[in-house]
Amino acid sequence: MPGSLRPGHPDRPGRRTARGGRVPRVTHGSGPSSSAQPAAPAHATRSGGRLVVLVSGTGSNLEALLVAHQDPAFGGRVVGVVADRADIRALEIARAAGVPTAVVSLRDFEDRAAWDRALTEAVAVFSPDVVVLAGFMKLVGPPFLARFENRVVNTHPALLPSFPGAHGVRDALAYGVTISGCSVIVVDGGIDAGPILAQESVPVLPDDDESSLHERIKVVERRLLVDVVGRIAREGLTVDGRRARIGG
Ligand code: GRF
Repeated sequence: MPGSLRPGHPDRPGRRTARGGRVPRVTHGSGPSSSAQPAAPAHATRSGGRLVVLVSGTGSNLEALLVAHQDPAFGGRVVGVVADRADIRALEIARAAGVPTAVVSLRDFEDRAAWDRALTEAVAVFSPDVVVLAGFMKLVGPPFLARFENRVVNTHPALLPSFPGAHGVRDALAYGVTISGCSVIVVDGGIDAGPILAQESVPVLPDDDESSLHERIKVVERRLLVDVVGRIAREGLTVDGRRARIGG
């Protein structure tokens, strides 16, 4: 049976609980004067897709989504940003935009499973229609994927299935490809292995190093991600095995 996501898909806000007697540190902030208060979504409207963006670093993809969501025609709204580490530029960008944030750091949990449960609950608080991994440098686990099945998309700076993993740009360069690019995929249990939603190529130049190629890929990647996420928010997403398509 194909899995189908329609705009406005409801999800119950989760309880943020600790298992095993340890209280996980999930810090929530809301806007520029962030505190450790539980976050309410910044925008309560369900008329468009509720987007939750997961980040680990610079946040340029998040930034592009935040620009796009100012246009009502985009159809989606970033209602929460969740990071796996504090003190990153992406969180500053979210706070400056007045978007509630949460930090769920692996080091605050006794094991990966506990972290994954806490991450799941931190995201569920925002009742997302679509979860966007935008430079999120950790694998999400089975509980997370079960909770947000067929609603999690990821962007990757290479033409999958070539060069999956954390060093896609470096690996493509080392291999000697003359064309690389970016891919937006639906996340499944594998490493950058889910059904492909969209791809775009970027030429590799003779003098490219990892940084210069990555920067050129990111220009294309931001546009592609915004386009795909907006279309999912407006039209929904259908996943049928290896095939993923926007709309029904
Ligand atoms: C993107 O190229 C993403 O595909 C990769 O890391 C980069 C994140 O960029 N995983 P940013 O944090 O959105 O600027």
